[in-house]
Amino acid sequence: PVTTALENYESSIYSSGKTEYANVNWDELGFALTKTDYMYVMNCSKDEEIFSEGILTRFGNIELCPSSGILNYGQGLFEGLKAYRKEDDGILLFRPEENALRMKMGADRMCMPSPTVEQFIDAVKRTVLANKRWVPPHGRGALYIRPLLMGTGPNLGVKPASEYTFLAYASPVGNYHKSPMNLVVEDKVCRAAPGGTGGVKAVTNYSPIYKTLGQAKARGFTDVLFLDALTGRNIEEGSAFNIFILKGNVISTPTAHGTILPGITRKSIIEIASTLGYQVEERDVPIEEVFDAEEVFCTGTAMVLKSVVSITYQGKRIEYKMGEEPVAQKLHATLTGIQTGLIEDKMGWTVEV
Ligand code: COI
Repeated sequence: PVTTALENYESSIYSSGKTEYANVNWDELGFALTKTDYMYVMNCSKDEEIFSEGILTRFGNIELCPSSGILNYGQGLFEGLKAYRKEDDGILLFRPEENALRMKMGADRMCMPSPTVEQFIDAVKRTVLANKRWVPPHGRGALYIRPLLMGTGPNLGVKPASEYTFLAYASPVGNYHKSPMNLVVEDKVCRAAPGGTGGVKAVTNYSPIYKTLGQAKARGFTDVLFLDALTGRNIEEGSAFNIFILKGNVISTPTAHGTILPGITRKSIIEIASTLGYQVEERDVPIEEVFDAEEVFCTGTAMVLKSVVSITYQGKRIEYKMGEEPVAQKLHATLTGIQTGLIEDKMGWTVEV
């Protein structure tokens, strides 16, 4: 059985006490799938509402009924979190409980049962341990864990699926964008509207912006920033990141009131910046303020924290001239220091695997 093979595999690499790495060119990693060894799967029927104990199984294709909820009606959510290798080879997860809680919140919105926080964290830990050799060496990337929750039961009618699958797989990753961040503001296509699902990590929040993103890339931009759907006046979120602006000692970011994904990196940066003495404001941020900002930066689990070099809106372009010590750099260093165990985690954010 798979579990026995895995136990043998685990004991062979752990008992030796030496670190074994997969054959990966860590310096070439971007944000793309590298297939790893194992994935973790748990199932649940709608009537029971409780996920059975999951199993680790070889990473590979899964079987789905053509009329499954996820394929027909997009009844699905995903999460993203990272495992980092410390200098002493230990492995840290960053705030997995937050991902578990966000999945629960999203599951409620999407009429799905969800794993308990304990089940979620256990699943993530097992996925990391089973793929330990794919966790990049300290300072050279992270293992990105992608938990999925999907309606797998068959349905032709428009209603919640009768069965659900939670699946977690992992891939080593490097930088999300390797090139400098030149953003374009989209003023026609909206990412999320009030009352919609923009505030949860529904799978359906992402593909509708592919066209806009592709067009922006074809014009030489790195990524897209969306405006609020109601007024078109305030900045909201990028294709896969939250946004912050800095002016003087004040750091502002759009309020996550349902149309913006409540990012865990976003939340962490708000807390780190406040601790470092910045005044952090969550509020509506009119597009005009972008042209008056000293620094702009993006955050996300995949993105981590990245300074924006330029923003273009309706043909008007601003370039940010960062000083000797950009605030974004200080925030990035503190965040990644905590994530990789270089800085003492006084917040209790990291979890040993
Ligand atoms: C993440 O930052 O983890 C995300 O989920 C964004 C993803 C679409 C790449």
